[in-house]
Amino acid sequence: MPNKGETLLRVEHLCQYFKTNKAVDDVSFEIKKGEVFGLVGESGCGKTTTGRSIIKLYDITSGDIYFKGERIAAGTLSYKNHIKEAKKKYKEEAEALKKSGSADALNAKKAELDAYIAEQRRQMKEARRDHKKHKTVTEIQMIFQDPIASLDPRMTVGQIIAEGLVIRGEKDKAKINEKVYEVLEMVGLVREHAERYPHEFSGGQRQRIGVARAVIMNPELIIADEPVSALDVSIQAQVINLLDDLRHKMGLTVMFVAHDLSVVKYFSDRIGVMYYGKLVELATSDELFKHPLHPYTRSLLSAIPMPDPDYEKQRKRITYVPLKEHDYSTDLPSLQEVLPGHFVHCNKAEFEKYRKEVQE
Ligand SMILES: Nc1ncnc2c1ncn2[C@@H]1O[C@H](COP(=O)(O)OP(=O)(O)OP(=O)(O)O)[C@@H](O)[C@H]1O
Ligand SMILES: [Mg+2]
Repeated sequence: MPNKGETLLRVEHLCQYFKTNKAVDDVSFEIKKGEVFGLVGESGCGKTTTGRSIIKLYDITSGDIYFKGERIAAGTLSYKNHIKEAKKKYKEEAEALKKSGSADALNAKKAELDAYIAEQRRQMKEARRDHKKHKTVTEIQMIFQDPIASLDPRMTVGQIIAEGLVIRGEKDKAKINEKVYEVLEMVGLVREHAERYPHEFSGGQRQRIGVARAVIMNPELIIADEPVSALDVSIQAQVINLLDDLRHKMGLTVMFVAHDLSVVKYFSDRIGVMYYGKLVELATSDELFKHPLHPYTRSLLSAIPMPDPDYEKQRKRITYVPLKEHDYSTDLPSLQEVLPGHFVHCNKAEFEKYRKEVQE
């Protein structure tokens, strides 16, 4: 078991493409044991796809996902691209060498290329092997975004909650029922609810069923995908309090997905901001609110109303227009550490600008 502060989940260069749609494009972050990691961004930016990639609902396009130090998912596109690039480079260099007539140099180059390709193929094979080895990881559970669509209407709540245990091979009916009753009570429902069907519940109660279905597996990491977006504000607080309560009781680590910052602000230790498949900013919650650097984060912040009339009078919604904000024609951006633990997607010029800003 890792200690608190240790990395529980590490996502490296994750890409999940749907044909030409780069839903998640080169996203990297870590989640530490015991923390709440908030992932925010507008509709369609790739939050759910990131979560679904982590629980292995996809054969990811590229990148690696590690859980407790072990690689549980890996894609292969990067290896294929490396091979393609190396072949292209070799072709250009070989042309030049042929002209100068050095057969030895040409042979050496070819041997170098062959060795490189063999190494890339070996790594690709390992990636495939690791990815296949972990079909599902029961220690990671997801609370799905849409509580209506994700609960089978023909199954009783008891059957829905028990499904994971049954799939895992649990056969003892009495034991399963006991566990179902236990988690129903943990999430604020009652054992009689086990016999009922999902449509007999309110939105907030359905979300509790989703939570029960996840916690019955005794996970270490829960991915809560917009668990409160469809609920009234008063019910939102109840579900968040429930998650917070369970987190402490069960020692859970949580990845909390939301589309605006107001919901994750108080609940998250660290926050990642996504925009169109990219992670554009990553920092502790306090730091992100103190020094929002990426213009998209600033626009998200400007959308949060505050219970302060003076602030509200001055508050101006900022719209993020990428083409106006960035000039990436000569220097491309990547995720850079501007302050320790504070990462921003930027190019060199922007990096310098942000550095100055945080030092002021
Ligand atoms: N199974 C799929 N097949 C094809 N495209 C998909 C699939 N799932 C998601 N997408 C596309 O990937 C992009 C990211 O979708 P995703 O559901 O991850 O966004 P999201 O950030 O969770 O949005 P929301 O806040 O609306 O839930 C979108 O353009 C979406 O249309
Ligand atoms: Mg989503």
